[in-house]
Amino acid sequence: MSDFKPGLEGVVAFETEIAEPDKAGGALRYRGVDIEDLIGTVSFGNVWGLLVDGKFGPGLPPAEPFPVPVHSGDIRVDVQSAVAMLAPYWGLGQLLDISDAQAREDLARVSVTALSFVAQSARGLGLPAVPQKEIDTASTIVERFMKRWRGEPDPRHVKAVDAYFMSAAEHGMNASTFTARVVASTGADVAACISSGIGALSGPLHGGAPSRVLYMIEEVERTGDALGYVRSVLDKGERLMGFGHRVYRAEDPRARVLRRTARELGAPRYEVAEALEKAALEELHARRPDRVLATNVEFWSAVVLDFAEVPAHMFTSMFTCARVAGWSAHVLEQKKLGRLVRPSATYVGPATRKPQDVEGWA
Ligand code: ACO
Repeated sequence: MSDFKPGLEGVVAFETEIAEPDKAGGALRYRGVDIEDLIGTVSFGNVWGLLVDGKFGPGLPPAEPFPVPVHSGDIRVDVQSAVAMLAPYWGLGQLLDISDAQAREDLARVSVTALSFVAQSARGLGLPAVPQKEIDTASTIVERFMKRWRGEPDPRHVKAVDAYFMSAAEHGMNASTFTARVVASTGADVAACISSGIGALSGPLHGGAPSRVLYMIEEVERTGDALGYVRSVLDKGERLMGFGHRVYRAEDPRARVLRRTARELGAPRYEVAEALEKAALEELHARRPDRVLATNVEFWSAVVLDFAEVPAHMFTSMFTCARVAGWSAHVLEQKKLGRLVRPSATYVGPATRKPQDVEGWA
């Protein structure tokens, strides 16, 4: 019997102490701590520490400006190349040759510097850089990030981005985390691991979805008819963005915390989003009573990021900033495991033959 699993679905490839979504209960815990207990009580830098070090220690160091210029105009692509360049620029050692402590330091440095890159790029080339001494007055990593981007950010926007970063920091063996672990298993440097994760995240099936939710909300805002909009999408056989999940058979716990964040911060589109969500859930349940199609993280991420005045084209890069925490934790866990990831494939090509039997042989 073949044990071939397309896309590795359901295959357990690693044992991890970091996190794994609790499908039935709809909970997400980072090293055993529910994200609902983290958001609003600690900051993203502490969550990076919890994921990577297993405790609330120093977490991330303060970020310096990104040291190398990289500008193609697309932040999503630039951040991947920029992070890879940190290895030769800083002379980072390869995981195979360095201690766990050194790897942890390198991961922290690469993580905060990736955030600096995104913030600097988001500010744009047209505006003068915010002086480092102003950034140094910030007390958290996310406040530094927002100051580097905006100069004087609205504190409610800082809270919104912090909540988003924390909720998107880690999510088990998703495609980008698996990618980062595969690269780590080869003994490459940490910049190579993180930049590979960024590449995997850039695809629309992973990190590229929430901007489409914003479009739906804008449509309902324009027409004032949530149910009519929902029905028109489903009648065309299309999917409602921000609903359904491959893993969860209950509400995505990240949707729950981000809905709360949006409500507490007074996001101006909260009411229209809530009306759209209500109409969508009712209609999805009426049409598919056999299947749980609940709200997923993308729906309320879009509302929270929109509230923080993050433009839709930046959403994937914001996801990158958050997920550096999970990637770092997994890269370190993989280094400690010290085992090359090398799966097999079932060969289904032509039987053994001679070169003369191949088409095109002269
Ligand atoms: N709207 C309408 N119908 C849906 C939706 C939706 N959002 N999601 C699933 N369904 C229906 C499908 O049409 C399908 O119907 P069928 O059995 O008649 O063909 C059935 O439910 C099962 O769908 P699958 O694609 O098999 O479900 P799966 O669990 O594999 O898909 C996915 C998960 C891809 C997220 C899906 O729910 C979807 O496309 N949602 C909309 C896009 C979205 O929100 N993406 C972000 C996901 S969260 C994240 O990636 C971090």
